[in-house]
Amino acid sequence: MKDIVLSGIRSTGNLHLGNYFGALRNFIKMQDENRCFFFIADLHSLTTHPKSENFHENVKTVLAEYLASGLDPDKSVIFVQSAVPEVSELYTLMNMWSYVGELERTSSFKEKVRKHPDNVNAGLLTYPVLMATDILIHRASKVPVGKDQEQHLEMTRVFARRFNNMYGVEFFPEPTAYNFGTELIKVPGLDGSGKMGKSEGNGIFLADDEKTIRKKVMRAVTDSGPAEPDAPMSEPVRNLFTILEIVSDDDVVRFYKAKYDSGEIRYGELKKQLADDICRITLPIRERIMDIRSNEKYLSETVKNGAEQARESASATLAGVKKIMGFKPFW
Ligand code: ADP
Ligand code: TRP
Repeated sequence: MKDIVLSGIRSTGNLHLGNYFGALRNFIKMQDENRCFFFIADLHSLTTHPKSENFHENVKTVLAEYLASGLDPDKSVIFVQSAVPEVSELYTLMNMWSYVGELERTSSFKEKVRKHPDNVNAGLLTYPVLMATDILIHRASKVPVGKDQEQHLEMTRVFARRFNNMYGVEFFPEPTAYNFGTELIKVPGLDGSGKMGKSEGNGIFLADDEKTIRKKVMRAVTDSGPAEPDAPMSEPVRNLFTILEIVSDDDVVRFYKAKYDSGEIRYGELKKQLADDICRITLPIRERIMDIRSNEKYLSETVKNGAEQARESASATLAGVKKIMGFKPFW
């Protein structure tokens, strides 16, 4: 039987190279072999971004970026979380078998409290409950997520098991992480350390134009040149080579490695090559983003169709849960 695969992405910013190579490209590959659900987690975004300005526009932008990268509405169910009200209803029910203590111990919650002590809303506390709802409402078996989401997935299994035990049923499957069969790629930032991220100011976005990409790459941190032969490569330069390995052909990578090893490398040339190869990959996507973003009709038809399919699957699960819990219709 085909796996039911599901993943969501928050609509809080534009997609960058890290999102593309670390997540999206794998989603695209999955579409042929599985029944896939991909959605924009706009409700989750509200936990940290409650302002209404740009709220809708951001959803549309991320949606266009998803589609431009290759998610295909003919193969997968692509929808916006808030357009499936069954999610909010099941989330209310799920809150009855999620405990405050375990939610308070979640790493992502503790981190948000530390970083934003002025906005510790209850939605933040129950973020893992909503995420578990997203997954369980389609009875997904596989969830492609990065390391940072593993704890949320583990909690989803706990909630599923607890419901099954509480009511003596085998209703919810326990979802596991999707195994890509290859090492997960981590795209480093251009600032010499860490990983590329939306809020780190160290990234290249899929929607960046050529001039911006070239400027960002040329400004990337390096070092003062190859050190002693056999000395380890500095972190900023290793990061540039890591990105080169992701975007360039093998012989190009070999060429620059050899130059580095012989001490003849010029970082300006390496960066120019890197910028050329990033542009080669992202500029066609950028063009599609602009096309799709301006095609309101296509966007709305896509999510309408996606919502219809998602609601069909969600309402069947919700009806099952309510029946098990003892709800009975009056009419
Ligand atoms: P960001 O770090 O920009 O806030 P998210 O945390 O929203 O991105 O991540 C969305 C998806 O993209 C996740 O699956 C995450 O693992 C992946 N991802 C984000 N940044 C990177 C990166 N630098 N390298 C690889 N994958 C990444
Ligand atoms: N919490 C995920 C993130 O920050 C987004 C998300 C919401 C999600 N619901 C989900 C991911 C369900 C996978 C499955 O990236």
